Amino acid sequence: MSANPFLDPTLVHGDLYRGDGRLADRTHALHRAKISGSDVADTIAGLLAARVPAGADVLDIGCGRGTTTLRLADRLRPRQLVAVDASAALLRTTRDRLGATGALGSVVCADFHHLPLPDSAADAAVAAFCLYHSPTPDLAVAEIARCLRPGGAAALVTKSLDSYAELDHLVQAAGLDPDATSRPSLYESFHSGNLHTITATHLTVLDIQHEQHVFHFADATHLARYLTTTPKYRITLTGGILALATTLKQRLAPPPYTARSTVSYAVAVRP
Ligand SMILES: C[S@@+](CC[C@H](N)C(=O)[O-])C[C@H]1O[C@@H](n2cnc3c(N)ncnc32)[C@H](O)[C@@H]1O
Repeated sequence: MSANPFLDPTLVHGDLYRGDGRLADRTHALHRAKISGSDVADTIAGLLAARVPAGADVLDIGCGRGTTTLRLADRLRPRQLVAVDASAALLRTTRDRLGATGALGSVVCADFHHLPLPDSAADAAVAAFCLYHSPTPDLAVAEIARCLRPGGAAALVTKSLDSYAELDHLVQAAGLDPDATSRPSLYESFHSGNLHTITATHLTVLDIQHEQHVFHFADATHLARYLTTTPKYRITLTGGILALATTLKQRLAPPPYTARSTVSYAVAVRP
């Protein structure tokens, strides 16, 4: 087992994304807490809309629950939109969400290191918050480059190594995980600091943008809801969110609890 749960294949292809509940709960807790930072799906769609004509063939790699996929469908009006993920459960959610909005799109269950797509099949590709699950993200970038037409554009998106580090200190201070601050960043394989270098292994980088997002968890229950969705900590307390919230309330200074994360975007083209 890897020391980093985001790089542990048994977790990534097992508990983490077996259903869509954990990801939905995490996204919901973060959205509620966010007090600054642009909508990521909107930003991605905007970056590609500036470079990709309507009627393009578009891929959303590691699509998860399809939040970005839906935005791409709306903003880019693609001819073909293919959402790819290794999780069959998340693909069902993406397919259902596409269907509910009447957007055109298909889903493909595949590993992003071996995309079952022909060479030069797409005008644009997105890989948002997924390549940090690969110990070799450069190989996934090579696959994305292979699937793009020459001149086709990619938007690769990730977070900074120090994302949510404030929460490590809170978890440790509350006595819930004595090693919380010494665990590796979940984003260590693909992060804001190596985004440019890894993207440039197989694509020509046109632009890198960084934006800090700030989160205020309004109370201990809100913080507990988020903490139960992150695999970073080894919290042995039983009793679920209620028990965790009670402990946080007893042991920490009053809320709000603040955390930060830098979201980084690379826009690149296949030479
Ligand atoms: C945090 S979610 C990101 C979802 C989405 N892109 C977003 O921005 O909301 C990470 C996704 O990467 C997928 N994933 C992880 N490893 C993968 C692999 N080797 N091949 C394909 N998908 C993978 C997971 O199943 C999960 O849906």
